[in-house]
Amino acid sequence: MTNRTAAPVTVIGLGLMGRALATAFLKAGHPTTVWNRSSSRATELVAEGARSAPSVGAALEASPLTVLCVTDYRAVRELFDASEAELAGTTLLNLTSGDSTQARETARWAEQHGARYLDGAIMAVPPVVGTADATILLSGPHSDFGTHRTTVEALGTVTHLGEDHGLAALYDVAGLAMMWSVLNAWLQGTAMLRTAGVDAATYAQFARRMAVGVADWLPGYAEQIDRGSFPAEVAALETDARAMAHLIEESEALGVNAELPKLFKAMADRAIAAGHGGEQYPVLIEEFSKP
Ligand SMILES: NC(=O)c1ccc[n+]([C@@H]2O[C@H](COP(=O)([O-])OP(=O)(O)OC[C@H]3O[C@@H](n4cnc5c(N)ncnc54)[C@H](OP(=O)(O)O)[C@@H]3O)[C@@H](O)[C@H]2O)c1
Repeated sequence: MTNRTAAPVTVIGLGLMGRALATAFLKAGHPTTVWNRSSSRATELVAEGARSAPSVGAALEASPLTVLCVTDYRAVRELFDASEAELAGTTLLNLTSGDSTQARETARWAEQHGARYLDGAIMAVPPVVGTADATILLSGPHSDFGTHRTTVEALGTVTHLGEDHGLAALYDVAGLAMMWSVLNAWLQGTAMLRTAGVDAATYAQFARRMAVGVADWLPGYAEQIDRGSFPAEVAALETDARAMAHLIEESEALGVNAELPKLFKAMADRAIAAGHGGEQYPVLIEEFSKP
């Protein structure tokens, strides 16, 4: 059921994610127009109350905000190139995944066509969209975020990261680095513990406490990085490097993969060789900041 006070919104791209976005807008009462290259994908949404636009141009005209969610940035450009739709005067919110360069280039392209542009990233899977657990990251002009904030909040918990259009994509990939690092570290430990008959579920309880405990160090370590000064308040890097050697030896002795521990140690060894062995772990930011 649409709500007379809720702003109209258009969704272009009705794959798994685009359909979830359109459903969340409909549930929040927004008059919702949809368009997809293969029009059959709109059928269920139309039954739920969406309006199917006959063309990209008609889809843009239907709402002050158009949300794009297609495979990649190339598809975004292809769909507009194929349609010759008039972009002037509309606002695009591109929730398609990509990198920061693509986001900034697409912002310039949209501006050249007279459109306003916000870029974004969805840190959630489709079933979570429309709940507070769906994190939606946005970047682009603050005024455009302010204008459309209430509409976008139908999708989840929305954070505006700043005016630089590339920020949402950067946070997106930084979050992926966090996710895979935690998962790989957990799998390393699980492989080791399983050699002693400890099952994954048992170790997962301990691993979770470790991950949460280490996460608590981040604000203090971040202060050191932002100050550019790394006094060894709790441990020196060379102490950590000795523990890394122990992790490598244990992995090899148990016959499990030692690639990840060796990567940790190689980076620490380079920082120690550069004279940072007496400093604290976040001094490794210098290794991470090189190409
Ligand atoms: N699914 C997730 O869990 C998830 C989570 C976070 C972010 N995302 C991001 O959301 C975006 C969409 O993902 P998805 O899961 O919805 O993918 P999907 O199910 O594969 O849907 C892809 C959509 O892109 C459209 N498309 C592809 N190329 C096109 C082109 N050249 N012109 C016009 N339309 C084109 C497809 O149209 P047709 O139907 O005509 O093929 C379809 O609507 C991706 O960037 C993805 O990384 C997805």
